Amino acid sequence: MPQEMLEQEAMRVLQTNDREGFTVPTAGLYPFQWLWDAGFTALGWMKFDENRAWREFELLFQGQWANGMLPHIIFHKPESSYFPGPNRWGTHHTPPTSGITQPPVIASFVHRMLERAKDRSLAEEKARALYPKILAYHRWFKYQRDPDNRGLMNTFHPWETGADNSPAWDEALAQVEIDPTLPPYTRRDTSHVDPSQRPHQSEYDRYLTLLEIYKRADYDQIRLHKECPFRIASLLVDCVLHRANCDLLRLSHYFGAGDEAEITAWIKSSQMGIENLWDEEMGLYLNHDLIQDKPIRVGVSASFLPLYAGICSRQRAKRLVQTLESWGQQVRYLVPSTDPTHPKYEPQRYWRGPVWAVVNRLIAWGLADYGFIKNAERIRQDTYKLFEVSGFSEYYHPSTGAGLGGGSFSWTAAMLLAWE
Ligand code: DGY
Repeated sequence: MPQEMLEQEAMRVLQTNDREGFTVPTAGLYPFQWLWDAGFTALGWMKFDENRAWREFELLFQGQWANGMLPHIIFHKPESSYFPGPNRWGTHHTPPTSGITQPPVIASFVHRMLERAKDRSLAEEKARALYPKILAYHRWFKYQRDPDNRGLMNTFHPWETGADNSPAWDEALAQVEIDPTLPPYTRRDTSHVDPSQRPHQSEYDRYLTLLEIYKRADYDQIRLHKECPFRIASLLVDCVLHRANCDLLRLSHYFGAGDEAEITAWIKSSQMGIENLWDEEMGLYLNHDLIQDKPIRVGVSASFLPLYAGICSRQRAKRLVQTLESWGQQVRYLVPSTDPTHPKYEPQRYWRGPVWAVVNRLIAWGLADYGFIKNAERIRQDTYKLFEVSGFSEYYHPSTGAGLGGGSFSWTAAMLLAWE
């Protein structure tokens, strides 16, 4: 399909998913505003409606808590097609929100939008207003999620990692005992998407058990460090936050905000924390179980994100590229969300194998920053081919290219528009 037609189609997806200022990831399956979806989607809007792109963030920050936390879902308007909704979360915020966060892409994308905006004065006004809110969010991360200053964030739920049912969480999640008093519930996701492409019921019961644990702890982060039976360091969260802090530093400088010393200390700390996740034998960075204090030995697409964070040495970057190339011989389309040679690789099941356009975008940015242009280009071409063959799906089969999960997906469409 010619590029122009694909672009038209991508814009149509965003317009159809627009709900007066925020964009739903896709109708039915995800009918509210999600944090990291909003970030990627704003990059798409930026290509044809800058005002609307900034509006996405204004509505997102309506959900910010007084302690700085930015929740992963903002329930702007009632909708019954999704579970768990606001009543189950019981967070008592206006507008209603969930009680956990997600990979914090916002600072980086605000910086990017500010740099590339055609309407400079609008961008400056919007980014200046967002800056203190983003700073408060990053402070919350540092002081509430890394109280020991280890340089790695405690992530309390698979949903916070962005990669909900990755095999990387299997062992840690199995330690969560399903609450025998768990209030009954009906999943809605499997009425929109074939169950073979979604998490198992045993995982959902644990997701919901964790949610009840937060409610009992009154969403008190310090209590959760003691009481939450699931605590991991997620490469997706840590690498995205590291780069976001580098971009926040640039914003602080740009606006003369004077927060440079504090942010620089966070960056130094996470640089060390993430470097410690390197595994020489596997030639990859690994997620880390913070309760057991041991590496999670499953290669995932996020294992390449230290390139995006910009923290790895030239030598480690080369090893990562070799590993990526070996994955590329196993599948037609890079980058599968799980190592395709791993016994738990499932090419159609959500984060256990499928390709995600947004993660591809982050990895390709990282590769290009390190000068691996050929590898970045393979990822771009693979991703474009998937758009052409299967439209703007939530995720894709790495071998057949079949579109999986939800259709007409906002952040996927946005990646076509924002991949320059
Ligand atoms: C879901 O419901 O599948 C989301 O990923 C959690 O926010």
